[in-house]
Amino acid sequence: MSSLEYYSMRKENGGYMTNKIPDDVIERVKQANDIVDVVGEFVHLKKRGKNYFGLCPFHDENTPSFSVAEDKQIYHCFGCNKGGNVLSFIMEMEGVSFYESLVFLAERGDIELPSIQQGKHAPRNEEHTKLLEAYDWLSKLYHHVLRYSKDGEEGLAYLKSRGLSEESIETFQLGYAPNKANFTATFLEKKGFHKQLLLKSGLLSEREGNDVTDPFRGRIIFPIRNHIGKVIAFGGRTISDGRPKYLNSAENPLFQKSQMLYNFDEARKHMRKTNEVVLCEGQMDAIAITEAGVPHVVATLGTALTEYQAQLLKRYVDTVIICYDGDEAGLEASYRASLLLQNSGCTIKVSQLAADMDPDSYIQTYGKSAFKAQLIDNSQSFVSFYMRYIKREYNVQSENDRVEYVKRIIQHIATLESSIEREHHLQDISKEYNLSMESLQTELLEHVNRIEQSQDKTSQTRYTSKGSAWTKKERLLPAYQNAERKLIAYMLHDPNIARKVENELEAQFNVDAHKIIVTYLYAFYEDEESPDISSFIERLPEDGLKHLVTELAMIPLVDIIDYEEIDDYIQTIYLESNDMKQLSDYEEQQKLAVQQNDYFKAAEIAQKIINIEKQLKKV
Ligand code: UTP
Ligand code: MN
Repeated sequence: MSSLEYYSMRKENGGYMTNKIPDDVIERVKQANDIVDVVGEFVHLKKRGKNYFGLCPFHDENTPSFSVAEDKQIYHCFGCNKGGNVLSFIMEMEGVSFYESLVFLAERGDIELPSIQQGKHAPRNEEHTKLLEAYDWLSKLYHHVLRYSKDGEEGLAYLKSRGLSEESIETFQLGYAPNKANFTATFLEKKGFHKQLLLKSGLLSEREGNDVTDPFRGRIIFPIRNHIGKVIAFGGRTISDGRPKYLNSAENPLFQKSQMLYNFDEARKHMRKTNEVVLCEGQMDAIAITEAGVPHVVATLGTALTEYQAQLLKRYVDTVIICYDGDEAGLEASYRASLLLQNSGCTIKVSQLAADMDPDSYIQTYGKSAFKAQLIDNSQSFVSFYMRYIKREYNVQSENDRVEYVKRIIQHIATLESSIEREHHLQDISKEYNLSMESLQTELLEHVNRIEQSQDKTSQTRYTSKGSAWTKKERLLPAYQNAERKLIAYMLHDPNIARKVENELEAQFNVDAHKIIVTYLYAFYEDEESPDISSFIERLPEDGLKHLVTELAMIPLVDIIDYEEIDDYIQTIYLESNDMKQLSDYEEQQKLAVQQNDYFKAAEIAQKIINIEKQLKKV
């Protein structure tokens, strides 16, 4: 394809396809949302040199290869190759359309969007949009009922009796579904929602005689927001002894309990500041904990913590404080959650609650400051928790059992990396069971040695990779490809270099994707005077190209441009493309010679081909 064709392609469908919304509005939204701040709300970022690094939210990894460049306002993952600007980050992260991402960021940055025709930008799935709308209306309705209407009085009384503040009712938008058969159905039908969709999604349920009703009627409503703050489900608690105690909306593609954490969208900003999160088991606990002055709290919704959720949390914080019920079931669940979380790389701590307590009842009984001081600030390390957890299996009054118990604990302590920590726990045991430190240390040493031996076998393969992600990649590529990558990197940062390359090389790049990128880039610099990678990628017609551009933009460049270096790149690319052209010409000629039975000529051409190939390998 010639560069002219690319130009016309861009004019037809590329470039501005995303926006009926004016460019300057998009620009303002981007400016109001610094990429480091936005990504930082989703990924735990650490600054290294000029850029920020973290664990990639788009693929599983244990060492950070996801980077964010503040100066360029882009991100790129060297592991999975995804990359883009702040808008595409939200799109990718939340699986939403360009428009939804823009709306989210406009709200976040307090920028007013011009009202535009919805149709063009609506997300692809009509049903999901309708469902989100229904949840939005209903949560407002239920909240209003609870706060201001007679129908909500018993709901409000219930919440007050449980000690909930006005403020919590407001921030968590709690509501009440009146105990009237037709109330909700009538409301939604008036708003124009189709009965079929409401039934299918479980917002209404069928009653005998072709009638429908609200399955949540007579329940306190806890709107469940997804990670960008949209209500996608309800939890409903009965205010009587009805069963089940909590009713949750049916799962659908928008609402997957195993991937959701209650209050995650609000907790996120606080998690980022504190680098820790409190994990509890339900809505009431999460609200009570927030009231106690601990806003970085999330809750699972009646299911055990999943690996997905553990990894999600790891992306934001280093430490998770598990604050589950104090009963047997809570202890078991805490143990399982801590294994999952440790596997995903978190440090865990566990709050110690009496057997008949949950966080909410603790706070009601002992007060907010006691909760904070005892259960959060003074939470147990995993080892202390583990000691408590396995102690139940032993009768430590008996000598035999006690020895077995201590051995098992020491086996675990041996896996700790910090010798200070190991020492600390040994001292605890020594005191509690009146055992000498020497004997405990001997026991510990045995286990430590055993672990180190088995690690030696695996460690050789683990620490061999050196150098940054892109230099590793660079070494594997042929010279002309490296030249093209480097040159494009310079062109992305400097319109003068782009102009120089356009004059001398046009779009004669050898890699097709590079050809396309430079063509778009020449067009971009026709409209824009200064480089702006984040805006540039918006014009590219497909994700693969965007990802490649962010990758190239991350290549570290020297500040003072060496024009000889640039000329070398141009030369290398030019020669390669000429040689390639020459090569395909010769191959044509060779075919022809064979057809004409001119074997002498064919052999002559073959030699020329070999020479060029040798030449190409040298470059
Ligand atoms: P709990 O039974 O511990 O309830 O269930 P709770 O959180 O203490 O609630 P209150 O204080 O009695 O109001 C823990 C979580 O499990 C889910 C809910 O999310 C609840 O918060 N659950 C519980 C259900 O989904 N269904 C149920 O029937 C019960
Ligand atoms: Mn409770």
